[in-house]
Amino acid sequence: MEDNIALIGFMGVGKSAVGRAIAQLCDMRHVDLDNEVERRSGREVREIIATDGEAAFREREHEALEALRGASGLVISCGGGIVLRDDNVRTLRELATVVFLTARIEDLLGRIEGDGGRPLLEGASDPHERAKEMLQERMPRYIGAAHYTVDTTGRDPDQVARLILNMMGVSP
Ligand code: S3P
Repeated sequence: MEDNIALIGFMGVGKSAVGRAIAQLCDMRHVDLDNEVERRSGREVREIIATDGEAAFREREHEALEALRGASGLVISCGGGIVLRDDNVRTLRELATVVFLTARIEDLLGRIEGDGGRPLLEGASDPHERAKEMLQERMPRYIGAAHYTVDTTGRDPDQVARLILNMMGVSP
């Protein structure tokens, strides 16, 4: 396994903020996979999903992940759906120590609602219900993909980052 850390988990759990915190503490480079998709395609994730559909986005997401092979010293914040493909899960586990961030469903729903920009939930007649279903479907995949699981409840991104490093036996 390369010397990278990958953060997975549902939308709104704080993968980007925790990724930035780990990178800062350990002098690693932070890569946000959604941003990578946007950089490589010159288009916003929201627009790719709205115009080309989810499957086209998943292909771009997969390519952005594959493009990280060979890199080291990265903290990779993944989009919430990265685990939907088995080949992505295999790649993640080859490239990185994979950390699943969890939170209470109410907290996730509150954050998802608060910051908008979640294209997969925008078309749903009941976004809360849809988010719960998606979380239930994905839970076994997150658990199966992860080397470590960390509960973010009541912790700020810096505290979560330190907890992860501690679990991994890394001193910042
Ligand atoms: C998605 C999560 C989003 C983004 C896309 C699809 C998902 O990333 O990749 O909208 O399927 O859960 P965040 O988890 O960073 O919001």
